[in-house]
Amino acid sequence: MTVHFIGAGPGAPDLLTLRGRDLIAACPVCLYAGSLVPEQVLKHCPDNARIINTAPLSLDQIIEEIRVAHAAGQDVARLHSGDLSVWSAMGEQLRRLRALDIPYAITPGVPSFAAAAATLGQELTLPGVAQSVVLTRTPGRASAMPNGETLANFARTGATLAIHLSIHNLAKVVEELEPFYGADCPVAIVWRASWPDERVVRARLSTVQSHIDAAMNRTALILVGPALGAEDFDESCLYSVGYDRRFRPQSADSPFANSPDEDSGA
Ligand SMILES: C[S@@+](CC[C@H](N)C(=O)[O-])C[C@H]1O[C@@H](n2cnc3c(N)ncnc32)[C@H](O)[C@@H]1O
Repeated sequence: MTVHFIGAGPGAPDLLTLRGRDLIAACPVCLYAGSLVPEQVLKHCPDNARIINTAPLSLDQIIEEIRVAHAAGQDVARLHSGDLSVWSAMGEQLRRLRALDIPYAITPGVPSFAAAAATLGQELTLPGVAQSVVLTRTPGRASAMPNGETLANFARTGATLAIHLSIHNLAKVVEELEPFYGADCPVAIVWRASWPDERVVRARLSTVQSHIDAAMNRTALILVGPALGAEDFDESCLYSVGYDRRFRPQSADSPFANSPDEDSGA
């Protein structure tokens, strides 16, 4: 018996991985985080599966469902939105399962920041402009931020910020970022990326608040940084003519001429 934690993706049901789909189809029990996991993903569950929306349950109740399935020798598909490595509450479930000696495995999913970047048609790391993406949030009712993880500290780097769980805090986000990025810095807000009712706002730090309406609440990402919409950036060396690399040795003398490849990115 195994509990399969599966990243269900950002919303579009076909952004589920093939592995995730097959595992859902093979598990007689499915627990899903109902607030964000698309219902259509549940269509992959086998007939007669026990399907439980965990949104109204406590951690104790969720673990009890898993414990009962474990006692019956039934595999469990545990679905969370996006990818599981960020803001999924998976960590606390894994800790309980380790204590109970219940086996688990993790299948990653498409994170919402990647879906938002795809919607924008945007690479978030551009040579000479930004080479880091900070996945962060602002403090919420249930989650304080550790000391040091402030927007100001991240902003000092000039990286592209992907700010989650914070659309209700937009005024504060703007106030904290403007001194570092400047009023003209591009901002994009992607609401419900990849869902049929997805919406996009592109603006500047100084103007973005006037573009948002009350309907754009909860499931939105705020992306900030000079890379957004930039056209004036360097080309990467990777494909430049004359750049000596493993996949494209430039001469017989190249150190890469006879070396088998590993590395390298693209
Ligand atoms: C509890 S977190 C889950 C994050 C998720 N694990 C991921 O990989 O993106 C929920 C937050 O993620 C962001 N989010 C999740 N799905 C989204 C989507 N389809 N479009 C835009 N933002 C999304 C929003 O900031 C939302 O408040």
